[in-house]
Amino acid sequence: MKKNEPKRSREIFPISVDRNIQLDSPVWSFSLEGLATEFDDHIKRSIPAYKETQDLIVDLSDYYTRQGGIIFDLGCSTGELIKRLAEKNRHNNKNFWMGLDKEEGMILHSKNHTRDLPNLEFIHCDFLEYSLQKTPFVLICYTLQFMTLASRLVLLKKVFAALEEGGACVISEKVLEENSSTQNMFSSLYHQYKSRMRFNSSEILAKASSLTGILTPLTRQHNFKLFENAGFEKVTLLAKNLHFETYLLEK
Ligand SMILES: C[S@@+](CC[C@H](N)C(=O)[O-])C[C@H]1O[C@@H](n2cnc3c(N)ncnc32)[C@H](O)[C@@H]1O
Repeated sequence: MKKNEPKRSREIFPISVDRNIQLDSPVWSFSLEGLATEFDDHIKRSIPAYKETQDLIVDLSDYYTRQGGIIFDLGCSTGELIKRLAEKNRHNNKNFWMGLDKEEGMILHSKNHTRDLPNLEFIHCDFLEYSLQKTPFVLICYTLQFMTLASRLVLLKKVFAALEEGGACVISEKVLEENSSTQNMFSSLYHQYKSRMRFNSSEILAKASSLTGILTPLTRQHNFKLFENAGFEKVTLLAKNLHFETYLLEK
């Protein structure tokens, strides 16, 4: 190597993005072997106030689900949230809870951890191809961000059509700030947050790099426009912590 020539960084695979999660390619995937077992701990430490946001959704669900109906969690991963809802409502036989995910490993894990709940079902499918029954309440948490813009709109229109009048959809997303200096500040605070959550710098960098072109956040304004284009006129910001926002879309 010539003097002063910068050293080229070479990523060696498998590369670690968490204590027990290794990527064997540069690109993040939900089909990683063994991911389902590690996923809950990983996402809890990756998203600020993840647990508190789930608590809020569980409490909020009462406003929409007491009359009964089929409730969907689209992109449920390990089924943690829909399981909490089904457990809370195990004595309300007017409701039925459904988790949909396209990763077989996630669905198997979900089924294996919820065998005692007869009011809950998990379906291995692409939710874009699934025909949603009429529903009072739909959850789409941290999932739209992994879809193309065109398919986000297709899904949102489908949810709008399936929602009962007076029903609601809760959406959590990673977002971009309109203002670039706020975006920079949040990025650096998020790095500090992840360090506190025991990710090392190499893991933080490897995860961010693996999500390039896979996770595409929009600004809140852009998200609201998308929701409006899908038919939702009443949209409320429920929660925000750094890059992560949760919205309530009412029909
Ligand atoms: C970030 S995870 C969701 C996390 C989970 N909702 C939570 O709150 O912890 C995104 C999930 O969406 C699923 N997914 C993405 N596109 C999908 C599609 N078209 N159909 C079904 N599942 C999909 C992925 O397999 C993945 O498990």
